[in-house]
Amino acid sequence: MQIDETASQETMSWWQRGVIYQIYPRSFQDSNADGIGDLDGIIGRIGYLAELGIDAIWISPIFQSPMADFGYDISDYLAIDPLFGDLPAFDRLVTEAHRLGLRVILDYVPNHTSDRHPWFIESRSSPTNPKRDWYIWRDAGPDGGSPTNWISEFGNSSWTWDGRTGQFYYHAFLREQPDLNWRQPQVRAAMLDVLRFWFARGVDGFRVDAIHHLIEDAEFRDNPINPQWREGRSPARRLLRVHTIDQPEVHDAIADMRRAAEEWGRDRVLIGEAYLPIDRLVTYYGAELGGFHLPFNFHLISTPWTAPAVSALIEAYEKQLPAGGWPNWVLGNHDRSRLATRVGEAQARVAAVLLLTLRGTPTIYQGEEIGMGDVPIPPERVRDPWERNVPGLGLGRDPVRTPMQWDSTPNAGFSAVEPWLPVSGDFARRNVAAQSADPGSILSLYRSLLALRRAEPALNIGAYVPVLTTEHVLAYERRHDESRLLVVLNFTGQAAQVEAGRGRVLISTGARRSGEEIGATLSIGPDEGLVAERLA
Ligand code: NOJ
Repeated sequence: MQIDETASQETMSWWQRGVIYQIYPRSFQDSNADGIGDLDGIIGRIGYLAELGIDAIWISPIFQSPMADFGYDISDYLAIDPLFGDLPAFDRLVTEAHRLGLRVILDYVPNHTSDRHPWFIESRSSPTNPKRDWYIWRDAGPDGGSPTNWISEFGNSSWTWDGRTGQFYYHAFLREQPDLNWRQPQVRAAMLDVLRFWFARGVDGFRVDAIHHLIEDAEFRDNPINPQWREGRSPARRLLRVHTIDQPEVHDAIADMRRAAEEWGRDRVLIGEAYLPIDRLVTYYGAELGGFHLPFNFHLISTPWTAPAVSALIEAYEKQLPAGGWPNWVLGNHDRSRLATRVGEAQARVAAVLLLTLRGTPTIYQGEEIGMGDVPIPPERVRDPWERNVPGLGLGRDPVRTPMQWDSTPNAGFSAVEPWLPVSGDFARRNVAAQSADPGSILSLYRSLLALRRAEPALNIGAYVPVLTTEHVLAYERRHDESRLLVVLNFTGQAAQVEAGRGRVLISTGARRSGEEIGATLSIGPDEGLVAERLA
């Protein structure tokens, strides 16, 4: 349990009190009838986001890109890709967001560029080019093959042979995404200037992509075999990535990013993307907390959806957070199977109560608030390069990137033309317009939870105090000053009885009315999650 006695609405930053909403821009709203979402589309829907009650939008990459990995392969960090708009459109978006009290977080991709970035074109032009060492070039191994056994995250070797200059280059992801060499001081300086460019344009923070991949072993040692790997799993997991991720030198680079952010004061946020065990993840807050404000905590995505497992996760995370390190929680994103598919529609509501009542900054992935699930993609419509590289293993991310469902008009109100990925078959029923009109919808639940979280310091900055965990139920309190809120979550489809103490219901996903009193013995309904005001 962490109690920060000094926490108050005034001393906490917006990124601590607030809620982040991830926009996957290709699939949020198309405004120019090309089937792909864009910045003007986001501007058109920004009123929806302000009303929903979130505090910040994080927009996945919108920069100039050949789109081999849908924007995570950048050929100019300082330009908006024409698919999405232009700099004036971006400036309008920031102005409009700020006018409505929403912060804007961009995606920063420091690990790799596109192979069409002018830096890489120069680098690969000759072994003596001044930018040669901006990327990671190596001679062939003694057998003429790859310099190491390293495997790309998307399958295949992570080394690509460049016949013209007679060396291999390294890429943690696609061959179209060569890794930058962060040991090269000029690379660092140029990449920090990217942050400065956008901060100067009014951006409130960055989500930093694939940070655990930033630096590789200086001695280029082979990775050991993973004895746990089985056929059918991701080929990249054949090896334990001891020499390719989470290297000690990464923290120095992150500290540089943090210093660049602080040139704009203390209010700009840096959020690091690192899929790591908790004990490693918490090191990304940095020595003396000079690292990321929020190293993304993805553990709710991978933890089995049971009360005991989630309870143990919360306790382990709370315990391992460094002093002064602010927690955060995520239920989904554009890379992982959607929440409603993972836990089912009824439990997705319980998960919403959990996400929005835990201690720490929540991030909502677009569509989660209407309960969107993974959408099956017919083979001829597959777009994700990962699925194309290693088909049939269930690794493709298209199913979680389908268009946002706004209403029941053709293409779900996302676009006037056929969208780049198919719209889910359930759009006529599952959409923002229909759910806005239904007080019992998951969208209405999200709205109530967001409003309550905003209104109650116990929820947005208070302490987390465990109450009980059973096979079915997790209960905890959130406390701030005299205020005590009780949260009770039934992770199963069976009713259960718990001794959670007395309270008056504020929100319930079940039949219980707001204002209803609950006694010392509570019968919690199947798939019910509730928030109550504590009664003595
Ligand atoms: C993580 C991003 O979230 C993912 O979409 C991307 O493919 C990789 N990093 C590579 O940038």
